[in-house]
Amino acid sequence: MLTFNFYRPTNLLFGEGKIEELPSLVQKSERILMLYGGGSIKKNGIYDRTKKALAGYHLVEFAGIEPNPHYETCMKAVEVVQAEKISLILAVGGGSVMDAAKFIGLAAKLPSGSDAWQDAVLHSHRRQDAVPVAVIPTLAATGSEMNAGFVISNVGLTEKRAGGNPLVIPQFAIMEPSATASCDLRQTSNGIADAYVHVLEQYLTTDKGETLQSYWAEGVLKTILQVAPKLMANLADLEARAIFMHAATMALNGMISMGVTSDWATHMIGHELTILYGTDHGRTLTIVMPNLWRVRREIKMGRLAQYGRNVLDLTGSDSEVADAAIIETEKFFVSINMPIKLSQADIPADAVEAVSAKVAKRGDRFGEDGQVDSTMIHAILTLAK
Ligand code: NZQ
Ligand code: ZN
Repeated sequence: MLTFNFYRPTNLLFGEGKIEELPSLVQKSERILMLYGGGSIKKNGIYDRTKKALAGYHLVEFAGIEPNPHYETCMKAVEVVQAEKISLILAVGGGSVMDAAKFIGLAAKLPSGSDAWQDAVLHSHRRQDAVPVAVIPTLAATGSEMNAGFVISNVGLTEKRAGGNPLVIPQFAIMEPSATASCDLRQTSNGIADAYVHVLEQYLTTDKGETLQSYWAEGVLKTILQVAPKLMANLADLEARAIFMHAATMALNGMISMGVTSDWATHMIGHELTILYGTDHGRTLTIVMPNLWRVRREIKMGRLAQYGRNVLDLTGSDSEVADAAIIETEKFFVSINMPIKLSQADIPADAVEAVSAKVAKRGDRFGEDGQVDSTMIHAILTLAK
């Protein structure tokens, strides 16, 4: 029987020229931390527009959030939030900056002497207080603009782990597709792959049959398949940027997973590849997912066949369609310049042992049924060499 809680209070402002509406969203009394990364926002004009819109506000900047945000850097921002009594963290950037803001929002409210890695990442769901977050996304991929999740890399521990808490769901998200137009081919491809895999992590499970959620998921997948070639042909195609940005948000704002099981094993394995080898998040996913499907083909047969028929227009028996769906998905990843083998992403073959051993040490089991253990991961990555 369908049952779920769905809470997404994010005020979405989508379209061009929305940054100038900031004063209508932010009380004059707010003490704002403007958080950003390595400076791409200074090259594409978003920095200047944001600063101009917030002229007259108490605003402190914190730059330098890395891709795959580092715990160590975020903790420096926590000190600034506490010292400056910040009341709103405004993340201006991609998923890494948005995720950092969420973690910082939780960590800044921890009692002094806490272990922020334990309390605001690994057990983040227990937090009862946070500095509110708002975002201006500049890279369409993660859906972080409208969800409670974040992923932080502890460089000292060589761990990249996910956290989440409804308190840090962005209060508002100002989504201007043109802000993403300065993303290069690599980042654009990474984003397309990430959003496409997000949908599949929630749809291609051991569930069977049509539901509202499965039709929604198939619609997002078809939209991404339709718009991806347009972006590959012309990164400046603003119409395509808008369609994809919308799809990426809907891919991971919780709508398509209402009341259904989700997999996420591909992501869990991907995070280990990123923290060990520095591989872009999206590039880990296109290597892992098709090989995970090959290893889990029998148990996922129903949804692989449904995905093949309803999204990829494949015909034949369930078994034929399932196998063709895996191949066609790899062809799509290759068409957006993504790797489908470890070697194509400069990941050494010994990653198979390294990742399996890391997961075995933690005793983790992933997947919609908790069956993806270190032995199965070893098999998946062996196929991906
Ligand atoms: O350093 P900056 O200036 O921000 O440059 C970034 C960075 O170098 C650049 N970039 C961003 N917007 C740009 C731009 N360059 C030119 N023009 C623009 N408009 O792109 C590089 C990558 O940015 P990043 O934020 O790291 O990329 P993405 O948005 O793909 O985020 C990846 C992070 O999100 C996490 C991943 O694990 C990874 O850490 N994820 C977050 C999720 C969530 N919160 O729900 C789910 C995802 O599965 C994912 O795990
Ligand atoms: Zn992802």
